[in-house]
Amino acid sequence: NKVYTKVTDSLDFFEGHNPVELAKEYQTPLYVYNERILRQRCRDLKNMVTYPKFVVDYSAKANSNLAFLQVVKSEGLEVDAMSPGEIYVERAAGFAPEEIFYIGNNVSAEEMQYAIDAGVRVSVDSLSQLEQFGQLAPGGEVAIRFNPGVGAGHHEKVITAGKKTKFGIEPKYIPQIRELLEKYHLKLVGINQHIGSLFMTGEAFTASIAALLEIAKQFPELEFIDMGGGFGIPYKKEEDQAPLDLKGLGAAIDEALWKFTREYGREVTFRIEPGRYISAECSVILSEVHSVKHNNDKKFVGCDCGFNVLQRPIMYDSYHGIEVYRGSEVKSEKTEPVTVVGNICESGDILAKDRVLPEIFKGDILGILDAGAYGFTMASNYNNRLRPAEVMLRENGEVVLIREREELEDLLRHMIPLKNI
Ligand code: LLP
Repeated sequence: NKVYTKVTDSLDFFEGHNPVELAKEYQTPLYVYNERILRQRCRDLKNMVTYPKFVVDYSAKANSNLAFLQVVKSEGLEVDAMSPGEIYVERAAGFAPEEIFYIGNNVSAEEMQYAIDAGVRVSVDSLSQLEQFGQLAPGGEVAIRFNPGVGAGHHEKVITAGKKTKFGIEPKYIPQIRELLEKYHLKLVGINQHIGSLFMTGEAFTASIAALLEIAKQFPELEFIDMGGGFGIPYKKEEDQAPLDLKGLGAAIDEALWKFTREYGREVTFRIEPGRYISAECSVILSEVHSVKHNNDKKFVGCDCGFNVLQRPIMYDSYHGIEVYRGSEVKSEKTEPVTVVGNICESGDILAKDRVLPEIFKGDILGILDAGAYGFTMASNYNNRLRPAEVMLRENGEVVLIREREELEDLLRHMIPLKNI
């Protein structure tokens, strides 16, 4: 009577471990990662084109657990970074400075200085940030993020190019860019873009690459061109949502890169910076059901995965598949529509609304699928709840703890009580 998980078409998620036992041993809520799937996703992308100078920069904002990054590093990927914090953790995971690409957005002089001192490649995305870089590192090497005019994404909040976004510099400012490069004797070594997060077809991405390559032709000395991330994954697997056609997209990209190289007359390193594609499918959150009730004829299943643990459903109305694992002898063949909610004091704390699931009982363990991207990295202490533990199912069959569950003392760690009260 256990509904067992099949997270991707080809890969069984728990590798023979029992999710109910994992939940018992490590408590819930719990992020579980599958090392084999993570490695597979790294390889899918590394091999998507034939172009030889092609580097995958994993976008660590999707998941920056130290052990997770160690696996990504061991697959030969490089990384991007959005903050000194990401650079710091990436260095700890073993990435060399030249394997890190800092993509700044409205960063302070101190943050930019941190990146410069760390020796990582730096991209700026406004004229004023370019000027700031010039003042901090005259004569240095810099990259510029352009807005190619084409955006895409699963929600307006995550479309990062086109007409309605703060990101990137419009190509019409190239004359001003040239002036600043000259003024501070900077070398423009790379250009980059990121059109947004989660596309399931390649048209917008390939159109943006065409636009970016037109910009590239105006700068004959480039060492790298970074096409950005955004590669989607099918969250609605139970509805047979098709995965991204990586082969077809790879072929289209390949053609564009080879053609560009012939016209440019020099080889350039091409980069992509996917986060979700690599990290989403290798994780399931285990969460225990603590209450089942009816309110106004609606059945609510209350579990311990509040939006402090997984924010995506409340933030973007995102869909995550849910499976049910049962340790008890309770048997039921029934399925029914239920609303799965967390334990946060807000009505919006909903993981799934009117979702048809097998009948669920108190004590069941839910598996919340495809949770590895923007899951833990967006977790918080809201309601003074503790951020969860993370474990990895290693390829050698071991289960290892890769982040401890927070403790109550952690909540007070940075607070300073008043002395005179
Ligand atoms: N590069 C840049 C500059 C980015 O801003 C992002 C994501 C990526 C790469 C990686 O995008 P990906 O391949 O993961 O789509 N929290 C949202 C997604 C926010 C994406 C932010 N930028 C979510 O949970 O859907």
